[in-house]
Parts: sequence; structure tokens; C-alpha cells
Amino acid sequence: MTTLTAPSLEQHNIEIQRNREVWLRKPMLQAVYHDFYRLIAARLNSGLPGPVVELGSGMGRIKEVISQCVTTDIFPNPWLDRQENCYDLNFSEGSVSNLVLFDVWHHLRYPGTALQEFHRVLAPSGRLILFEPAASWFGRFVYHFFHHEPVAIRDPITWDAPAGFSAADVDYYAAQSSATRLFWWGEGHDRLAGWRLREVRPVTSFSYFASGGFSGPQFGGRFLHSLMRGLDFVAAVLPRVCAARLLVVLEKGKS
Ligand SMILES: C[S@@+](CC[C@H](N)C(=O)[O-])C[C@H]1O[C@@H](n2cnc3c(N)ncnc32)[C@H](O)[C@@H]1O
Repeated sequence: MTTLTAPSLEQHNIEIQRNREVWLRKPMLQAVYHDFYRLIAARLNSGLPGPVVELGSGMGRIKEVISQCVTTDIFPNPWLDRQENCYDLNFSEGSVSNLVLFDVWHHLRYPGTALQEFHRVLAPSGRLILFEPAASWFGRFVYHFFHHEPVAIRDPITWDAPAGFSAADVDYYAAQSSATRLFWWGEGHDRLAGWRLREVRPVTSFSYFASGGFSGPQFGGRFLHSLMRGLDFVAAVLPRVCAARLLVVLEKGKS
């Protein structure tokens, strides 16, 4: 009989090291990610003092597009600027202009608790920019069958950490549909006191699916990927059917 054990937090670091290597071997994936980083760059509030900080930077490639970004992760890898845990940030109140989380939100077991910490460190009108898997019909199919993390469409989302929770207690958690459910489908809209939900944008990207991401094989070459960029443009009219990614922009308002 096989016993399934839940992954430990170290699972993230194993994937970080693997992703660093995969990145170097996959120029198509790099091109797709650079497009994604540009979408994020265009949404930064650049009129505010304070750093742009990425949380959960993992392989740490965002600087290739957003050069001023301070990269951080719960794992203090040598290519990152500093170590940070989403639940207990080493930034003073109101000191950060923009926070970026790329594929990190769906690893937060207690999103409401993390959101409070993000609100604390952001300057007024500072932005929290999330880039996440989109649980469109096609997205659900791909993420369920071709990615090892649960999509978790029906699992309860525990908004707040239990009493006595400490940031040091963080364990491994994954629910790929978390941002879709909370921000796109609206399950979390009534929990956003102190925030303005500025944008929820499904991003169609067959190029991303075809790149195989970090864990799958790449389909097609450069020519096919150019065609897919055209297809992405057309398919954008059907986001609920085929979006690959979800871009969410929250802005700090009054508490
Ligand atoms: C799926 S990876 C994404 C990494 C990177 N942003 C990327 O796009 O390649 C999730 C990352 O979030 C980090 N992470 C998970 N929980 C965290 C927490 N509580 N605080 C900070 N980072 C966390 C992990 O270590 C991991 O690097």
C-alpha cells in the first residue's frame, strides 16, 4: 500500500532550484514570462516613494524586466536581495510603494492574514499586484492534468489564521484557483475593506500552455508560438473558456 505524505515547505526550494535550470533551457518560456512581467510593470504605481518589492521571488528573474524590484523569498537564496515571509514582513508601516506576488498567492493558506500584513507595509495608494493561474475551463483542465498542485475549486478557503498562528509556522499549501475564486468569481469581494480592487484581468496565453511551463514539455517552435500570440489576441474574447492567467491589482485605500 502506498502512503501519500503532504509535501514539506522545502518542496518550494526544490522547485526553485529546478526552475532556475529549466529557465536557461527554455527561451520560449523566458519570452512568455517577459511578456507577463511587462504586464505587471505597466501596473506599478510609479508616483510613490518606497521600493517595489516582490515576495516569493523564487528563481528571481523579475529584475530582467523590472530592474529596480527588490527580490525576496522565504528561502534566502544567494541571487535574491533579502529573505521575507509574507506573514511577517521586515518593512515599516507605509514604506513600500508596490508589492508583487507572482504565483505566490495560491500558496498562502491564510490569505486574509497575509493581506493585513501587505496593507500594513504599503504606502497609501500603494499597489498589490498578483499574477496567478486562471481557473477558466481550459485552465482548470491543464492545471489539473498537467500540474502537480491541486486546483481546489471546492475546498474551503481559510481567510484568517487561527489564534496563536506565527509566521514561523508556515507549511506547504497550494490551491491554484484561490485568486480566481476570490477576485474573479467574487468570493472574496466583501472581505476587501481597506482595499480598492482596481483590476481583475484574465490573460489568455496559449503560448504559456504550449511552453509547458517549468514542469511540462514544450509544444512547437518559434513559428508556432508566433501564431499562438495571434490566437491569444482572438481568444481574449472568451476569458472564462480559455484564460491561462489572472492579473489582479489591489490598491491600498482607507482602513
Ligand atoms: C510557485 S513559486 C513562484 C516563484 C516565483 N515567483 C516564480 O514565478 O518563479 C512560490 C514561491 O513562493 C514562496 N513562498 C511560499 N510561501 C511564502 C511565504 N509565506 N512568504 C514568502 N514566500 C513564500 C516559495 O518559496 C516560492 O519561491
